[in-house]
Amino acid sequence: MQQTRVLTGITTSGTPHLGNYVGAIRPAVASSLHADVEAFYFLADYHALIKVQDPVRVQRSTLEIAATWLACGLAPEKVWFYRQSDVPEIAELNWLLTCVAGKGVLNRAHAYKASVDRNREAGEDDDAGISAGLFMYPVLMAADILLFNAQKVPVGRDQIQHIEMARDFAQRFNHLYGGAGNEHFVLPEAVIEEQVATLPGLDGRKMSKSYDNTIPLFCARPELKKLIYSIVTDSLAPGEAKDADSSNVFQLYQAFADAGETASMRQAFADGIAWGEAKEALFERIDAEISPLREKYESLMARPGEIEAILRDGASRLRRQLAAPRLAALREAVGLRPLSQAGAADADVAHGKPSLPVFKQYREDNGRFYFKLMAGERVLLQSGGFDSPRDAGQHIALLRREGYAKAGPAITLGEGIGADEVRTALSSLAEEDARKAHKAAGAR
Ligand code: TRP
Repeated sequence: MQQTRVLTGITTSGTPHLGNYVGAIRPAVASSLHADVEAFYFLADYHALIKVQDPVRVQRSTLEIAATWLACGLAPEKVWFYRQSDVPEIAELNWLLTCVAGKGVLNRAHAYKASVDRNREAGEDDDAGISAGLFMYPVLMAADILLFNAQKVPVGRDQIQHIEMARDFAQRFNHLYGGAGNEHFVLPEAVIEEQVATLPGLDGRKMSKSYDNTIPLFCARPELKKLIYSIVTDSLAPGEAKDADSSNVFQLYQAFADAGETASMRQAFADGIAWGEAKEALFERIDAEISPLREKYESLMARPGEIEAILRDGASRLRRQLAAPRLAALREAVGLRPLSQAGAADADVAHGKPSLPVFKQYREDNGRFYFKLMAGERVLLQSGGFDSPRDAGQHIALLRREGYAKAGPAITLGEGIGADEVRTALSSLAEEDARKAHKAAGAR
């Protein structure tokens, strides 16, 4: 079966909350179970270092997020589940991509620009307090995606620009280092789940760590209850009809309830359900879904060594099967090659491309100038004598450009060589010339 590669990273800089669960974890685990998907879920701990420079928090968050995904049903034997920093090939690709990424493209990244704007507003230097890590964030993210040639990348809207940048870097790399029919990178596409709810937080704004309005996914039952009761509502009294669609309580309920339950709740709102009663129903509904997961989570959190082993196993299989061979091919493509294969024609032989034919010019004892077209040791074409090397060179250029049809009367086929073989040889040279010209134009 043709599988689609779906990949997404979770920055290990916080504690998962209900918004993450509904918006990302729950749909991701569900889609990872489809047979036509090859899923990659990883803990983006290198990315975390950009935001969090407290080592204990980075470690704690990595543990919590790994335990959360496992508790929510991610099956490490069915999907690639790993920690970014356990796959050094990502960091290495990061550098290869850094060298093709346009600085101007990075200058336009929303996250970076927002930091610059804040500095300007505060009357500071543009780049005050901005690390090169923040600036390079999109390149690292591109490395995460491109190393595995992921086709689909489920992300939040704020990440769409990063996927576009990954496409841009991939295209530049392909253009520079890929021949026709040898595209190194697939261009990834962002997937925005339209039907997945964005949960409101305690204050009614989108639930988000940056607003400090979240409900931790696995807080204890009494804490969950307390937080749900603290959700801001209007002051309509019991018995007064309430508008379901504008209510956070209702939106949260809907994200956890089935269609039938949602319809009854909508009716209860119209009938003037008391806020306390609605919140009680919401609490029980959420807890019914979460409590079995919470139990698994707690048991996993009690055995961090097991989580460590799962992550290491994922990364080591992934490296062996995909990351290491991929990176080897990419190193080869950019010219990080063993010197034992030096020499252009030899190098091509070494990685399986048929070597290109070559024109060899020489002078005979009679003082005239000749050339041959050689494929390895075999002579494909033999020229007659020219008066000057320049004349010989011009004839070669003509052949390279126009092909065998332009071979003059002084050119004869090598022994046992057919015209077709010469045509093929010359057209592969013409292709190579076109590719080089294209490349040179791109580099300017
Ligand atoms: N930048 C993403 C976020 O903050 C996390 C991430 C890192 C990611 N690498 C990725 C997402 C690769 C998708 C693909 O949400």
